[in-house]
Amino acid sequence: MTDANQDLVAELVRYGLDGREARWLVEEFVPGGDLDAVVALRLGAQRRLNGEPIQYIIGHWPFRSLDLDVDSRVLIPRPETEELVGIAMSELARGAAGAPVIVDLGCGSGAIGLALLSELGDRGVVATLVCVDESDDALAVARRNALKHHLHAVSFVRSSWYRDLDPSLAGHVDLIVANPPYVSAAEFEELEPVLAYEPRDAIVAPDARGVAGFEDLETIINDARRWLAPGGLLICEHSNVHRDAVMACAASAGFTSVEDFDDMAGHPRVLVARLA
Ligand SMILES: C[S@@+](CC[C@H](N)C(=O)[O-])C[C@H]1O[C@@H](n2cnc3c(N)ncnc32)[C@H](O)[C@@H]1O
Repeated sequence: MTDANQDLVAELVRYGLDGREARWLVEEFVPGGDLDAVVALRLGAQRRLNGEPIQYIIGHWPFRSLDLDVDSRVLIPRPETEELVGIAMSELARGAAGAPVIVDLGCGSGAIGLALLSELGDRGVVATLVCVDESDDALAVARRNALKHHLHAVSFVRSSWYRDLDPSLAGHVDLIVANPPYVSAAEFEELEPVLAYEPRDAIVAPDARGVAGFEDLETIINDARRWLAPGGLLICEHSNVHRDAVMACAASAGFTSVEDFDDMAGHPRVLVARLA
C-alpha cells in the first residue's frame, strides 16, 4: 500500500472505523492510489459509520472459492454456510451420483449452489444446478454471480420453495440444499441492528409446530421426498434451537438416515437427511 493510501487508512480509523475495514475500503475505492476516488471512499466510510454492512459497501465478498457480488437485495453469505458447503461436498463424495442434479432452495446470491457447482467442477464432476428463490431481485444477483464465474450448468426458477419447479425433476434430484429464513419475528427484534440492512424476507420465518421460526424449514423437509432420487440428500442450515425439530421432521418425512452437525462455534447448524 502506498504512503498516501496508508494516510487514508489512518484518516478513516480516526473517524472511528475498524482498521481492517478501513484498509478494505481504501483498497476497494482507491486501488491505484487514484486520489479522485477519495470522495467515493469518504462516502463509503460514512455509510459504514452509519451502520451499513461493509459487504454491501464494497459490493462483493468471498464465499468458499468464489468472489460473490452482493448488495442489499440478498443476504450476505455467512461463514457457517461455507461449512454447509463443505459438508455437502463430503456427502456427495460418499454418494453414488456421478453427475448430480442439485437444487438450491432460497439461493439468494447463489452462494451455496454456485460454490458446489464450482468445487465439483474442480474435481471433474459435471453437476447440474437449479437455483430457486421467490425474490426476482435475488435471482438477478445469483444470475450475475453465475456469469461472473462462468458457471453455465445452472437454471434459475422463481418459485416459493418447490411450488413452481419443473415437475419432470420429481424423483431425479440428488441433492437439495437450503439455507432458508429461520429466525422468528420476535428473535429478529433482538438481533444486531446491522441485520436491518438485509432483506427481512431472507431472514424471518413464521413459527410452526410451536417452534420459533420453523415454518420454512418444515415445508422444505416435508416436501423434499417427492423431488429426491433414491439415495437423495437434503442438507439444510437451521438455527441453534431447531435441532430436535428438524431431526423429528426429517424422520417422519421418510428419511432413513438423519444426522445433524454443529458449526465451528459449536452450535447445532446443519441437517443432513438421506433417503434409502
Ligand atoms: C437466509 S437467505 C439464504 C440465501 C443464500 N442461500 C445464502 O445462504 O446466503 C434465504 C433466501 O430464501 C429466499 N426465500 C424466502 N422465502 C422463500 C420462499 N417461500 N421460496 C423461495 N425462496 C424463499 C429469500 O429470498 C432468500 O434469498
